[in-house]
Order: sequence, then structure tokens, then C-alpha cells
Amino acid sequence: MKRIFSGVQPTGNLHLGNYLGALRNWVRLQDDYDCLFCVVDLHAITTWQEPGELATNTREVTAGMLAAGLDPKSNIIFNQSQVSGHAELAWIFNCVARLGWLNRMTQFKEKAGKSRENASVGLFVYPDLMAADILLYKATHVPVGDDQKQHLELTRDIANKFNNDFKVDFFPTVEPLIFGAGTRIMSLRDGTKKMSKSDPSDNSRINMTDGTDAIARKIRRAKTDPHPLPASPAEFDDRPEAANLMGLFAALSETSIEEVCGRYGGGLFSTFKGDLADLAVARLGPIQDEMRRLKEAPDYVDQVLGDGARRARELAQPTLDEIQDIVGFLRP
Ligand code: TRP
Repeated sequence: MKRIFSGVQPTGNLHLGNYLGALRNWVRLQDDYDCLFCVVDLHAITTWQEPGELATNTREVTAGMLAAGLDPKSNIIFNQSQVSGHAELAWIFNCVARLGWLNRMTQFKEKAGKSRENASVGLFVYPDLMAADILLYKATHVPVGDDQKQHLELTRDIANKFNNDFKVDFFPTVEPLIFGAGTRIMSLRDGTKKMSKSDPSDNSRINMTDGTDAIARKIRRAKTDPHPLPASPAEFDDRPEAANLMGLFAALSETSIEEVCGRYGGGLFSTFKGDLADLAVARLGPIQDEMRRLKEAPDYVDQVLGDGARRARELAQPTLDEIQDIVGFLRP
């Protein structure tokens, strides 16, 4: 059986990059796979989170998942901290993974920056927890963006070492599912940087909670270059902003980048931006309406998460029992 696990951090406002890069792709997978979609609050606290905001963001991300079209009945949607098996297995993996492996993780280096000595220990072992998320359910496929590929490699290394150390054939090999165009949405202010909730400029991103006016304004003010629009993706070299905006159009209209280039190539950014703004408003509007509705129904959202967590625990328990036997832990 093919089983998917994927996670999203509740560390800030959900933005267009999260929607086009993750949520929208998950919606397409839900019919073909047995899926678990997790709001990874344990990962979130590897950097400081205000408790009240963490709770709000966990609900907002969940609302985004539901509004994007994920079915909470056919999928398991839950927040990570409600299933203690994630933390338990992560501890075992802390003892399987090697310091040298984690030292090579580029995301830790980026996030820790110059103040490595000041980073939380949790941030360093973040990838072990991610491996635990995936392997607790013996997931076979993980949809991720480019930036998570290295973590997925580490997951495979951990699974292999566990199998070798304990002389078992227990954990499966995990395959990444990488998506095509529109999975990597870049900042509206700098086409070489990923759209991110941590960018200090709010104009760099379109938040899923932005209103019609804000969406149109941010697109109108998005950085461009002085040339006419490229007539083919071959002309994207050194034009990251044009590539990003045209990629955004392709992703939102579910057409190919070639088609967008064919339609707008040689034209003016101003005309194109007007169309892009209309498209973004039309596509995001219904999702935003549903998110607003769910914001007023926190009890329903909590109930979805509680129900998902219960089903996730049931799925994880036999695996956890077996792992404890393999490791030599006594249990009732
Ligand atoms: N690290 C992922 C990110 O920041 C989130 C994540 C946590 C995840 N656990 C996961 C993704 C398991 C896929 C599978 O995007």
C-alpha cells in the first residue's frame, strides 16, 4: 500500500507559497493514496513561538488545509503534539542518527545562522523528528519541496541504519514526490528568494488572509525588470522576477509556463500584472472565504484535529509496540 505523510509548520500566516507549493498538491494526492497530513507543532517550537500565537496558527493552518479541499474523513489531519509516538520515536532516532550526519544539514546552518551556539538543541535534531513523523506510519511517499530533499535523504539513512543495527527489515525506503511548475513560489520583492513567512517585508508575500485590495496592490508593486515579458522559458535566465510571476500565473491558471509565455511574451508587465491580480483574486477568494468561516468555528477545527489524532494514534500503536520490542524496551 502506498502511504503518504506530509507536514506543514504552524509558524506564521499561511501564504500563497504554502498553498501552491504544498496544500494544492496534497489535494491532488488524496484520492490515490492513504494520506496523513500533519500540522507539525513540535517542529515549530524548535524556534521560539508565543504560546497564544502557536495555538492560533495551528488552527489557521488546519483551516487552510480544509479550505483548500482536503477531506478530513478520507485523510488523517492532525497536529503532531497530540500523538506522543512522534516524540518517542524521535528519541530513538536521536540515538540512531550520527552527529556528523546532522552537522551536514544545510537547513540547520541557515536557520541557526551565526549564532549556532545559541540555537536550540531541538533545531539541531529537527531532521530526526521529521524522520520519526514519516517512519512512525511507515509512509512510503513524502511530497516535499526542494528544500526538504536533504531531510528526506537523512530519513532514508536513519531507516537503513536502524534496520542494519537491529538486523531487521522493518522500515521501508521512503520516496520523495516532487511536483512540477509552481511548487516553488518566490518572493515578490526578490525573485531569487523563496516566498517566506519570515521575510520582514509583508509585500514580499501574498498571505492567505489578504483581502482583494492587498492582493492586487502587492502584485502591482511586485518587482520586475525593464524588458518586455519573455516569450519562452528559455529567456528566463537572469530574469528571476519574470520567471516567478509567469510561473505564478501558470500555477494559478493550471496551464503550462510555455502557454503563459506564448500569451504574454513581448508584452508589458503592467497589462500582465492586471490579469495576474484578477486571476489570483478569483482563485484565492473562495478558499479565503472558507478560511474566514472556519476561523469563526474553532470548535469544529479542534474536533477535526482531535479525530485525526485519535486515528493517527491507532495507526501508530502497533508500529510503536514492534519498535519497542526490537529495541529491547519492556512494555506491558
Ligand atoms: N520540515 C518540513 C518543512 O519545513 C515540515 C515537515 C515536518 C515535514 N515533518 C515532515 C514534511 C514530514 C514532510 C514530512 O516544510
